[in-house]
Amino acid sequence: MGNLCFSRDLIGLEDEKMASNWKRIMWRFMECATTPLIADFFPVLDGLGLDFQGKKKEAGKCMKKMFEMWGELIRQRREEGENKNYGDFLDFMRKNGLLDVQILYMLLEILPAGSGTLISTIEWAMAELIKNKDSMKKLQKELQDHDILNSNSITESQISQLPFLNACIKETLRLHPPIAFLPHRAQSTCEVMSYTIPKNSLVFVNLWAIGHDPNIWEDPLLFRPERFLTSRLDFKGQDYEFLPFGGGRRMCPGLPFANKEVHLILAALVGCFDWSLPDDGVGFELDMNEKYAVPLQKEKPLLIVPP
Ligand code: HEM
Repeated sequence: MGNLCFSRDLIGLEDEKMASNWKRIMWRFMECATTPLIADFFPVLDGLGLDFQGKKKEAGKCMKKMFEMWGELIRQRREEGENKNYGDFLDFMRKNGLLDVQILYMLLEILPAGSGTLISTIEWAMAELIKNKDSMKKLQKELQDHDILNSNSITESQISQLPFLNACIKETLRLHPPIAFLPHRAQSTCEVMSYTIPKNSLVFVNLWAIGHDPNIWEDPLLFRPERFLTSRLDFKGQDYEFLPFGGGRRMCPGLPFANKEVHLILAALVGCFDWSLPDDGVGFELDMNEKYAVPLQKEKPLLIVPP
C-alpha cells in the first residue's frame, strides 16, 4: 500500500522506528474508529456531543499524527516539482489538482482500509494452509504446474489460470472475513423478517456468522477450498451467502486491487518457500483463535519459518 500511494515501502525494514511507529498509530486509529460506542446504543448521548469512552478524541490524535507523517511525504513530493513521474496514487491526486488536505483525507480512507485487511487475509490464508497440509500440497502443485516456482514470480495474467489459489483465498475470506461486521444505517423505516427497523438505526451485517452458517455451508468450520471449485459463488456482492467485500453502493472500492494483491502475495509466499512451523512443529500447536478487531486478527500472530 505504501508503494501504491507513495512509491515507498512504509513498513520496510530499513527504518524500523518509522515502520513500527506508523503501524502502531494506524492500528490504534482503526481500533478507536471501530470500537462500538455507548452512543451507538443510546443515540441520545451522541446528540449531546459527549465522548464517554474517549475514543473519538484518541482517533483524532492518531489522525493528526498520520496527517503529519503523510503531509511530510506530500511536501517532499511537491518540492521535487512536476517533472518527476512516479506514476503512483499521490502523483495521480496531485496532477488532478487535489489540495493537500483533500489528499490527506483520501489517504485516510484508503491506507487504513487497505492495509490491515490485506495483512489479515494473507496471515489467515497462510495459517490455514500450514494447518491443512493437503491443501498446501495441492496449491504448491498448481503453482509448480504453472512454473511459478521456477520463475520465482507470478504475473497478473497468470491469476486466472490458478483456480485452486483462487479457491483458497475465497475459503479464507469465508472463514475469516477481515471485516466481520458491516455497520450500515437504515435510510428509511423498513421491516425485515417481521422486525421493524426504524429509520437511522445502526444495523450490523454479521459477515462472520453468514460465512459459518451450517444452513448455507457444509462442514462450515472446515477449511475446504474445493467447495469453491465447483461453485458459482463469488465475492462481487451478488451472492448474499458470501460478502467479504460487502455489497451494494458501499461495497469495498478496493476489491479489484485487493483481489490481485492477495493472489500475487500468496502465490509468491507459497510458491517460493516451503514454510513450516518452528522446529517442524514439534511441541508447537498452531493457535487458530480469533481476536475481534477490525480487521479480524489472529489472537497469536502467525510464526512460520522458511527452510
Ligand atoms: C482482502 C482485502 C479486503 C477486504 C476483505 C475488504 C473488505 C471491505 C469491506 C467489507 C468494506 C465495507 C463494505 C460495506 O460497508 O458494505 C470495505 C470498505 C472499504 N474498503 Fe475494503 N477490503 C479489502 C481491501 C481493501 C483495499 C486494498 C483497499 C484500498 C486500496 C480498500 C478500500 C476500502 C475503502 C476505502 C472502504 C470504505 C468504503 C466506504 O466507506 O464507502 N479495501 N472493504
